[in-house]
Amino acid sequence: MIKLKINTFEFFMKSDISVLEACKYAGIHVPRFCYHEKLSIAGNCRMCLVEIEKSPKPVASCAAPVTPNMSVFTNTPLVKKSRENVLETLLLNHPLDCPICDQGGECDLQDQAKVFGGDFSRFYINKRGVEDKNCGFLIKTIMNRCIHCTRCVRFGTEIAGIETLGTLNRGKDTEIGTYISQIFKSEISGNVIDLCPVGALTSKPYAFKARP
Ligand code: SF4
Ligand code: FES
Repeated sequence: MIKLKINTFEFFMKSDISVLEACKYAGIHVPRFCYHEKLSIAGNCRMCLVEIEKSPKPVASCAAPVTPNMSVFTNTPLVKKSRENVLETLLLNHPLDCPICDQGGECDLQDQAKVFGGDFSRFYINKRGVEDKNCGFLIKTIMNRCIHCTRCVRFGTEIAGIETLGTLNRGKDTEIGTYISQIFKSEISGNVIDLCPVGALTSKPYAFKARP
C-alpha cells in the first residue's frame, strides 16, 4: 500500500494501479473514452487528463501509475480547460447528429459534451467523411461518429481473438477498419456495440426501434 493525495485528501492505495483507478477507488469520477478496465491501456483519447504535482503539464491518468506521496488534482481550472480542449478536438469531425443517433441518451460523448462542451463552434471548415464498414449482421456502423478510442480494436485482439480490425492511416485521415474488407467474424462481436463510447457502432437489429 502507498499513501497519496487526491484533491488534498489522503488515501492509502495499492501500488500497482493507475491514477485513474486510484481516483475511481476514492469515489472521484474522471471522464474517459478509451480506458476500459477489461482492456489494455491505449491512452489515446486524452479525456482523463489530471494535474500531478511537479508535472509540467496535465497527465493522462489512465496511463500514469500511482507513486508514493504523489499529489493528484482532478478539479483545477487547468484540468477543466484541458478537458474542454480535448472535447473540442474530438468534436471537430463528429457529425453532432445526436437527434438521429441510436446511442443518443446513453452516449459517453454526449454526456461529456454536456459537461465540458462549448455552446458554439470555432471551426467552419467541412467535416471529414468516413465510409461505413460492413461489420456483420449485428453491428451497424456510422464511422463519421468514431473518435478512434480503439476500444473495438483492442476488444477484437485481446478478447475476441480477431486481429483484422485495426487503425488505418494517420492524423485526420485515421479510420477504424480492416485493411482488406471483411466482417467482424466472432460469436461475441456484438459486445463492441456496448463498448463503443459513441454512436459509431450500434445495434443493427435494434436500429430506430426505441430511444433511451
Ligand atoms: S468505432 Fe467506437 S469503439 Fe471503435 S474506435 Fe471508434 S469510437 Fe472507439
Ligand atoms: S481514458 Fe486516458 S487517455 Fe483515454
